[in-house]
Amino acid sequence: EFCKGVNGLDKVVLRESRGSSAEVYLYGGQVTSWKNDHGEELLFVSSKSIFKPPKAIRGGIPICFPQFSNHGSLEQHGFARNRVWSIDNDPAPLPTNSTSKACVDLIFKPSDDDLKIWPHSFEFRLRVALGPGGDLMLTSRIRNTDAKPFTFTFAYHTYFSVSDISEVRVEGLETLDYLDNLQNKERFTEQGDAITFESEVDKVYLSTPTKIAILDHEKKRTFVIRKDGLPDAVVWNPWDKKAKAMADFGDDEYKHMLCVEPASIEKTITLKPGEEWRGRQELSAVPSSYCSGQ
Ligand code: BG6
Repeated sequence: EFCKGVNGLDKVVLRESRGSSAEVYLYGGQVTSWKNDHGEELLFVSSKSIFKPPKAIRGGIPICFPQFSNHGSLEQHGFARNRVWSIDNDPAPLPTNSTSKACVDLIFKPSDDDLKIWPHSFEFRLRVALGPGGDLMLTSRIRNTDAKPFTFTFAYHTYFSVSDISEVRVEGLETLDYLDNLQNKERFTEQGDAITFESEVDKVYLSTPTKIAILDHEKKRTFVIRKDGLPDAVVWNPWDKKAKAMADFGDDEYKHMLCVEPASIEKTITLKPGEEWRGRQELSAVPSSYCSGQ
């Protein structure tokens, strides 16, 4: 279903027969809503988000490409998140075992102006699909359509909605090495138990497992992130001071969001002419009582 979103921006609404849904804006190729079959919103979008180019939408799942954060000379998080994507009329066929009709294929190709900023031509195809159980799947395929190789970094900058950040734990990253963006990207090793939150955090965890869990104790909900082709995972919460400094983010909203971002940052990705890269994240939200041992 194709319709108008905030400020007249085009969006696609996906509905799965058991009641879950998702919304994808062509602006940024950005998922801005993911609801379970009870109609509960699972992603965070700021009430202060501007929904107007050139500022990226604050929340949902921004696509960071061709550069994560300030790891390079491009604008912060690259330019894919503030360009208008198109519907892809020539998508790859769905896998034969796939039953999902709640699916949209988008494509982003650089404009002449984009090529002045980053002189590499590519086709970026993004498939967003809702599974029968309400799982949200994002598959990115980036093809080098240029005559020379190029190198990039990437992240699904996923903003999860949580009831109270102080009650949240992340499992799957303990004992891993990380680069701390708050300490000049220096490398440290995570100690001890699951990760909890009591101040600003901005870390790039390295060589992470394919499965990471976010436990929301108060909501009795666990998000499970499964990823493929994305070895790193960024964990970000701006906390109070940085929240106040962001024009498109409410002062207290940091309490109700957490970004866990499947990414490829430390290991940059290089594509030769004609080569294609794939990166996938699959999100599910399950009642905590169903997760044995958690
Ligand atoms: C995170 C980065 O992924 O995104 C942070 O690690 C950054 O350093 C945050 O502050 C938000 O970025 P932006 O550009 O959307 O405000």
